[in-house]
This record gives sequence, structure tokens and C-alpha cells, in this order.
Amino acid sequence: MSLASGHEIVNLEGEELAKQEKDWKGYTEGLVRLTPGRWLFPATFRDYADKYYKFKPRTSDVVLLTYPKCGTTWLQEIVWTMRNNPNLDNPMAAAPVNARVAFLEMDILLKTKNFNIGPDHPLMQGFKKMCPGKDPKDGVFLQMTQCSPEPRTFKSHLPLSLLPPDLTDTAKVVYMVRNPKDAVVSFFHHSRIFKNHDFSGTFEDFVQYFLDDDFVYGPYWLHLKEAWHRKDNPNFHFMFYEDLKSNNMEELKKLDTFLGTKLSQEQLENVAHYTSFSEMKARDAVLGTGADIFFNLDIVNKDGGFFRQGMVGDWKGKYTPELDAKMDKWIKTNLGDLGLEFKYGV
Ligand code: A3P
Repeated sequence: MSLASGHEIVNLEGEELAKQEKDWKGYTEGLVRLTPGRWLFPATFRDYADKYYKFKPRTSDVVLLTYPKCGTTWLQEIVWTMRNNPNLDNPMAAAPVNARVAFLEMDILLKTKNFNIGPDHPLMQGFKKMCPGKDPKDGVFLQMTQCSPEPRTFKSHLPLSLLPPDLTDTAKVVYMVRNPKDAVVSFFHHSRIFKNHDFSGTFEDFVQYFLDDDFVYGPYWLHLKEAWHRKDNPNFHFMFYEDLKSNNMEELKKLDTFLGTKLSQEQLENVAHYTSFSEMKARDAVLGTGADIFFNLDIVNKDGGFFRQGMVGDWKGKYTPELDAKMDKWIKTNLGDLGLEFKYGV
């Protein structure tokens, strides 16, 4: 079957599928592979792929793109606060960030048998309020993205080749990347706490999936390269998690210029404070109503929730020397002469 994006999509079968299903208990409806690119997604992607590709961007949209675990939630809170709450007086800020900054393709992750969201769940209540009269079967998150009040800020982890081809001609796009060693450690934790992934293998197994480019939302490098090649487009802002961490105010100023928000120094300081790791962690409502639908709460209670470390260099000590050497080789090979450099922390 061909997609509107030009990719061929096939179900993962045989040994390949059996291997994934052994380690990833959350992908209960199987997986699909796309060519070119070898993109891997839960099979639910098939139902939505063309809708994402044909999504109509608006000139007032700001679209936040990342590979998973590269600091999307942080970026969401920063950009939404810059655009909507620089004086920290907007009552909308009380809602969780994912209710203010929609997640375009979340339907592909939630439409699994692990999830049984009833009409009384806060998520469905939010959907009904934001999209009155709409049918959840047509995509809860897709429609929440469409119905978001203007100016819309929304996020996606999809690679550019699966998003609307006119995206960067129309909307403003921010892409943030994080060094792969920290991103992998963060993704390992994420994949264990979230039931829609439910990863049950070891850290070594997890890293190997990455090295084999055999990973949902992957390949990591192709995702990154598609964005890097767009970096000189005036509607495209490329940034690094590590820079946002070490030169926070400087990066906020660059974002302010790119977004055209024209914030004062005091407003920028409001944004920096409100979106710091400690403030966001303190506001985290992970264990609120309905959390057990999404989280393996025993792992959250033992190893921590979504806001884990929020630092650069946390990967140190997590990889065996052999695994670290493999990562270094993989990174060197894939970086080639791209002209892109990561910071790994001191
Ligand atoms: P760690 O698991 O290393 O702590 P995403 O939002 O793309 O899923 O990325 C999540 C990662 O960003 C997590 O990394 C999380 O702790 C980190 N993060 C979230 N908010 C942050 C903040 N305000 N400052 C720094 N890191 C943050």
C-alpha cells in the first residue's frame, strides 16, 4: 500500500515482529515499516498517515518537532509560555502542557488494546470541550490539534518526510535535538514507565534496538538529517537541548527573535523561571486522576516519573565500556561530514 507521502507501508511479520512483540508489550496491534527510510511505527499509524501528511498548517502555527526524549515537553512549555503567558497571568496555564500544546500523532500511540479510555476520563472530557460535536473515532489528538485555539502551538515526533510538504513554507517550525547517549537513557526509562510501549528488555537490549535503527519513530539519524538539511530555511529554527540547558537565556532570546514574540528581559526571565526543570517537575501531575491508564505506576514509584533528571551527561556510568564504544562508533559513522556536533556533558 502506498501513502500520500510516497512511502510504501507494510506490516512487520515473522521473526521481526516476534522479536519486537517479545520486548515491547505495548505494541499490541503490531507494527508497520515504511520505505524508503525504514521508519517503524505501531500499526495504528496506517489509519492516520495520510491525515498527518495532508494536515493543513496555518501561517500563525508554531510546530515543535523532536525525536522522542529530546526535551519536547520543555520546549512545549517554553514556546507556549512565550506566546501565551509571558507575564505568568494566563489562567490557561493551569491545564497540563499537553492540553495546551496538542500532540499531533498521539492517536497512533494510544489506539492500542492497553488503553481503554472511557468518556469520563479527563482526556476525553478535554476533547469534548475543545472539539464539540466531533467524533473521537476520527482521532482525538488529531482533532484536538486541528481545533486548538489560535495561535496554535503543537508538537510532533514525526520526521519531516511524513509531515505536510508545505509545513515550513507556511508555519514556523522549531526542531530540537539531544545527544543520542542521553536521549537513549531517557527513552529507556520512558519506554518502561509508559504502558503504550511497555518495554521489558534490558538496557543493553534497548541500546541495540537503537544501534540497529529498529526502533519506533526511528531511524534517529534520518530524523535528524531531514531536519538538519532544513536548518537554513527562514521558517525553521534548529536547536540543541544541551545549549538550552547551558545557555538558557541566550537560547530563549534566539527563540524570541524567531517567533517574533518581542518579549522584554523581565518576560524572558519569567519564561526561564517558569520552565526550569525544578518548576516543571514540581507542577507535574503524573500521578493525578487516570494516571494508571498511561503509566506503570510501580516503575514510576520505584525509578521516578516523566521528569527524571533533566540534565546533560546523565548517560555516564549507564553504558558498559563495550556498549559505549559501540555507541561512539555508531555516532561517528552516522555523523560523517554532516557538520553537526553534540555536547555530552563534562
Ligand atoms: P531525562 O529523562 O533525561 O530526565 P521529552 O519531553 O521529549 O519526552 O523529553 C523528556 C526529557 O526532557 C526528560 O529527560 C525530562 O526530564 C527532560 N525535561 C523535561 N523538562 C525539562 C526542563 N524543564 N529542563 C530540562 N530538561 C527537561
